[in-house]
Amino acid sequence: MIRDPHDLQRYTASERANHWVTGICFILLALSGLSLFHPALFPLTMLFGGGTWTRILHPFIGVVMMLFFVVMFFRFQGLNRMREADWEWVKRAKEMVNGDDHNMPEMGKYNGGQKLLFWFLGVAMLVLFVSGIVIWRAYFSASFPIGVVRLGALLHAVFAALMIAAIIVHVYAAIWVRGTIRAMLYGTVTRAWAKQHHRAWYKQMTGK
Ligand code: HEM
Repeated sequence: MIRDPHDLQRYTASERANHWVTGICFILLALSGLSLFHPALFPLTMLFGGGTWTRILHPFIGVVMMLFFVVMFFRFQGLNRMREADWEWVKRAKEMVNGDDHNMPEMGKYNGGQKLLFWFLGVAMLVLFVSGIVIWRAYFSASFPIGVVRLGALLHAVFAALMIAAIIVHVYAAIWVRGTIRAMLYGTVTRAWAKQHHRAWYKQMTGK
């Protein structure tokens, strides 16, 4: 299946590695962040070697994620510009979710929903990174007035919750649209998948 010569290349190995380092960092950050957020979740710190280690590791993993995210952001931003057909797709998304995709406009490599999610992730990562620096006690917090540190803590918690929700939607959509996960695992998709979900991209790739 994977080696079918008719399959279309969607991601290079380097794009996939870039994405998965970001994804693994996200999971580690969500687990360590939640463990520090509420006492009921404190047992999760055991995954990171206890409370102290969790607090030390969480911000460093955040820096690694930000670095990889920035590379991914600049790789994909050109493909995520919203066009008229994308807004139309967003307007009709409810019809598609209800099982009728006949009126959906043709999509390029990404659909309107993926594109909006992409820009939301960009904003969320920026807010999380800046607020994370402000509340990083070991190195930076002392340089900021207490009011700024408090605002940083609030923004960090709010955007972390929003980002976790956004990634749940991202993963759910990737599983829900059969044949998508393999794009990020092996780099290829079937022609039928491309024709069904990203027809303009299919035409561009095949010249048909
Ligand atoms: C951890 C579990 C994750 C899974 C299972 C997952 C899965 C996938 C899959 C299957 C695709 C390919 C979609 C397509 O080609 O149509 C994709 C694309 C993408 N993913 Fe993820 N992902 C995860 C986490 C993340 C995280 C944490 C981020 C960023 C913070 C992210 C950012 C992206 C981006 C930017 C794309 C390209 C789509 C675009 O540019 O609009 N992913 N993901």
